[in-house]
Amino acid sequence: MPTHEEIRAALSAVIDPELRRSIVELDMVRSIEIGANGVVDVTVSLTTPGCPVRGHFQTAVTEAVTGLDGVSHCNVYFDVLSDAQKAALQQKLGRASLPEGALARVANVICIGSGKGGVGKSTLSANLAAALLLEGKRVGVLDADVWGYSIPRMYGLGSTRPPVSPERKIIPLEAYGVSVMSIGFFLEEDAAVVWRGPMLHKALTQFLQDVDWGELDYLLIDLPPGTGDVSMTLAQLLPQAQFLIVTTPQPTAQKVARRAAQMAHKVSLEIAGVVENMSGFQTPSGERFAIFGEGGGRELAAELDVPLLGSVPLTMPLREHADDGRPLVLDDPEDPAAQAIMHVARGVIAMAPLEPLALPLVQVAGNGAEPAPEAPAERKPAGVSLPMA
Ligand SMILES: Nc1ncnc2c1ncn2[C@@H]1O[C@H](COP(=O)(O)OP(=O)(O)OP(=O)(O)O)[C@@H](O)[C@H]1O
Ligand SMILES: [Mg+2]
Repeated sequence: MPTHEEIRAALSAVIDPELRRSIVELDMVRSIEIGANGVVDVTVSLTTPGCPVRGHFQTAVTEAVTGLDGVSHCNVYFDVLSDAQKAALQQKLGRASLPEGALARVANVICIGSGKGGVGKSTLSANLAAALLLEGKRVGVLDADVWGYSIPRMYGLGSTRPPVSPERKIIPLEAYGVSVMSIGFFLEEDAAVVWRGPMLHKALTQFLQDVDWGELDYLLIDLPPGTGDVSMTLAQLLPQAQFLIVTTPQPTAQKVARRAAQMAHKVSLEIAGVVENMSGFQTPSGERFAIFGEGGGRELAAELDVPLLGSVPLTMPLREHADDGRPLVLDDPEDPAAQAIMHVARGVIAMAPLEPLALPLVQVAGNGAEPAPEAPAERKPAGVSLPMA
């Protein structure tokens, strides 16, 4: 039979997909008992009783332990971390709050930002999501530009209020197969938003925690321009998120983009890569004009030591389709800008995911040792508590 230490070592292969660390490192292995006939009992402490990744732990712990010589069977039991243990865990992870499950089934979160406004973040977010969809991925887009929201328009969605599920979760609207959430859905058409500080923080928290994103391979977050409040809040809520920097080719844009990169570093978001947008324009006769200069994306990528995931040329259809509410990559994949965005999508997919997370939600058989499910009344009502200006 393996020893306690050997079992513990095997369990370090079990990763909490939300916190992205092993359950051993997270002190979530409550007990290991080695019984007769090669039976091992493992109790795992969850952050919340309704933890949606419970099924994943059930499977992964069983696999890890029964893989050891001499183990014939593994029983997996669950309990919940005490408040003190949760506080210790939070401190260890250096984060304000532990995720409560809404994003538990989202494998990759990618924030799309820039230093400067108007470089094409939203257009790229909308099209990159569609491109990832064409590559067979499940994709969501969160419009985190609360002041200048433009994702609803780019997907042809108006200000329809999203429905709320019986579990009091906001259901994202769907456009062309992409799950979409924007503050624009909760406001009168084109109303202005003036929040800062706590209001902003609350709205973004709700978009991440009270929205039923379901199982997604990618959640793209369209950031507002600049390096402000929104990025800070998101970094705090999503320490595992990656950052994609959009820049135009000219040196001044590159300089400003560098500031965005510094901000990302400061809040410890990993920079996944650079996308250069508005990289030249080709006339129908084949003549090429470098309207916004040349080379800025490559230089920025080299400076940050991250890949340049693509250079997207200026094309009229990209702008027209964005205005008409249909991502160009879906309508005209042959357009040079659409092709460049498809290339970016493949680059994004090729980047090793933080953690493979295709989690089947296995139903855990009742085993007496489980805590009673928490009363659903605890959940705060969703959808109705978004702060309204
Ligand atoms: N490669 C491109 N070719 C043609 N038009 C483009 C291209 N990229 C973006 N645009 C157009 O430029 C305008 C600005 O783009 P977009 O709104 O995506 O920028 P943004 O970075 O999200 O802006 P903001 O900082 O205001 O959020 C839009 O009208 C968009 O359709
Ligand atoms: Mg935008």
